[in-house]
Amino acid sequence: MMFEPHIQSVIDRVNAIRDSVDDHWQIPRNEALLLSQIARIGQCRSFCEIGTSYGFSTLHFAAIAREFGGHVHTFDISQRKVNAASQNLTDAGLIDVVTLHLGDARELVATIMPETPYDFVFVDAVKDQSLEYLQAVLPKTAPRSIIATDNTLSHASELAGFVEHLRQLPGAVSCDVPVGNGFELTLLMQD
Ligand SMILES: C[S@@+](CC[C@H](N)C(=O)[O-])C[C@H]1O[C@@H](n2cnc3c(N)ncnc32)[C@H](O)[C@@H]1O
Repeated sequence: MMFEPHIQSVIDRVNAIRDSVDDHWQIPRNEALLLSQIARIGQCRSFCEIGTSYGFSTLHFAAIAREFGGHVHTFDISQRKVNAASQNLTDAGLIDVVTLHLGDARELVATIMPETPYDFVFVDAVKDQSLEYLQAVLPKTAPRSIIATDNTLSHASELAGFVEHLRQLPGAVSCDVPVGNGFELTLLMQD
């Protein structure tokens, strides 16, 4: 089993809102599981998530952060969604390992200093703002960090330039993972 039963039951409940809420925009379950497993294998402890929505992906990252004594900083521009995500994380008993930030990630990310530099970044908000999110978060990343960018299958043309940019970053090893929405998996080695 990937997660403790009380966490899994909240994940299952939030997963089910796909059928009832138009604006959930959450990653498919198989993608969430794979991202969690990558983070677990990498023993990631310091997460930055850009695009919280109702907290589906956040629940996964928070569960891994809890395993390694880490923390998640997650950003969303919608008050309603931040409120809902906060309730879901509370229900899962994970709220103490998550800080929810309300506002435009293009401005907010640069103002937040994580407890330890981010070793896992998930980029999943407005696709044509992805470069701005990256520029804000890069100075706060660890010498070795994972950057996962969602929607490389579902929004391939919008993200093509950004993916090319990721692949050309110094120290980057990057590949497409065609699971769920598709995501670009970038390992950034700055050491
Ligand atoms: C695709 S959804 C995130 C889904 C979530 N990662 C999941 O898989 O459960 C994108 C979210 O980004 C938020 N968003 C849009 N523009 C933003 C911005 N400039 N800064 C922060 N959040 C933003 C939206 O409100 C929306 O909830």
